[in-house]
Amino acid sequence: MKEYNTLDDFELEEKTVLLRVDFNLPLDKETFQILDTTRIKRVLPTLKELTSKNAKTVIIAHQGRQGSWDFINLEKHAKATSELLGKTVKFVEDIYGDLAQNAIKNMQPGDFIMLDNVRKYDGETDKKTPEEHAQSELVQNLYPLADYYVNDAFAAAHRKQCSLTGFTAVMPSAAGKLLEKELETLGKIIKNPEKPSVFLFGGAKFSDVIFTIERVLDNKTADKIILTGLPANAFLKAQGINLGDKNEEMLAKEGTPENYEEIKQLLQKYKDSIYLPVDFAEKSNTNRNEIEVSELPTPYNLFDIGEKSISNFKDVISDAKTVFLSGPCGVFENPEFMKGTEEIFKHVASAPVFSIVGGGHTVAAVEKLGLQEKISHISTGGGSLEKFMMGEKLPVVEALKASKTKFS
Ligand code: 3PG
Ligand code: MG
Repeated sequence: MKEYNTLDDFELEEKTVLLRVDFNLPLDKETFQILDTTRIKRVLPTLKELTSKNAKTVIIAHQGRQGSWDFINLEKHAKATSELLGKTVKFVEDIYGDLAQNAIKNMQPGDFIMLDNVRKYDGETDKKTPEEHAQSELVQNLYPLADYYVNDAFAAAHRKQCSLTGFTAVMPSAAGKLLEKELETLGKIIKNPEKPSVFLFGGAKFSDVIFTIERVLDNKTADKIILTGLPANAFLKAQGINLGDKNEEMLAKEGTPENYEEIKQLLQKYKDSIYLPVDFAEKSNTNRNEIEVSELPTPYNLFDIGEKSISNFKDVISDAKTVFLSGPCGVFENPEFMKGTEEIFKHVASAPVFSIVGGGHTVAAVEKLGLQEKISHISTGGGSLEKFMMGEKLPVVEALKASKTKFS
């Protein structure tokens, strides 16, 4: 028995369901066209289940944040969902006012509507408990019109926001199929990973990664850590290595003196478990040029790991049973600096390991390399995935558990 309800626990036939999804999608900055519909595709099993039950489905979602350039209405999202589902999903340009309420009241069995960007509602992002959120205008206006609340928004499960937790306090609620699958699969990895378990971090940010690394090593979720990208540079710098002005500048944009102190302490505690590059590829005047760590500093940008590092990291991965990839190994968008990411990711995809990938850039790299089918689990989460892997409780999941107790 799960601690939260799933779709199987409810009699959904012709019932009205409020379905919270995470359709926060990457958009083109000029045309605002949707660039990637993965998050919609991943909710299709839930949408199809609701179709098969002839439910009336009211989709609630967000895009961007108030004030951000990608904060737009959900008309394009409704259209994209219609196309992928093969069934009309009507966009309603209202969240909980008369327009939205009448649209819900007029639904026929099997109908889908998508309400407008829920973050247009100011109370959405208030810091409140589910019980407090339940008193909001959003919840008070919508919940009397529906039978069930279903949350399938794993990628937003680390947020305590109104539409993510508030409904669970006033009506029977369940996890959708995507949320259930993410929790099941990732739950096994954090509680009981097949050993050795190797976590690779890369990408262009490092300050948050320090704490994550310490947690997953403390919790024994990871046995070994491979560092590439900016995190690798930061760890080398913390060991007193001068990387050259351009690279130091990139680090300075994010890193504080405390960060380097934290890294030093982490290296003291876990030196043998953390694997760093021994060489890099730099962007010299004549393009990709490989350089050993012992040859640093360099006047050029370090944009990828070098061949010796690739080979070392492949050996570490070959011994592993579980591999988690968080971030590309270099500037993979540039073909000259794709090599590290390509070789390492392909190695993971073909190795007999349970592989997990998460985060927008990492998933984009996997797709660019055509490896989607060979990765055991591609998570839709970014921030939520990181929190979950660190062993932290997700507010959405806690709210669903409490709801199950309350309405059983
Ligand atoms: C995401 O894409 O990270 C989720 O949709 C949550 O969005 P947020 O980071 O703006 O809260
Ligand atoms: Mg985010």
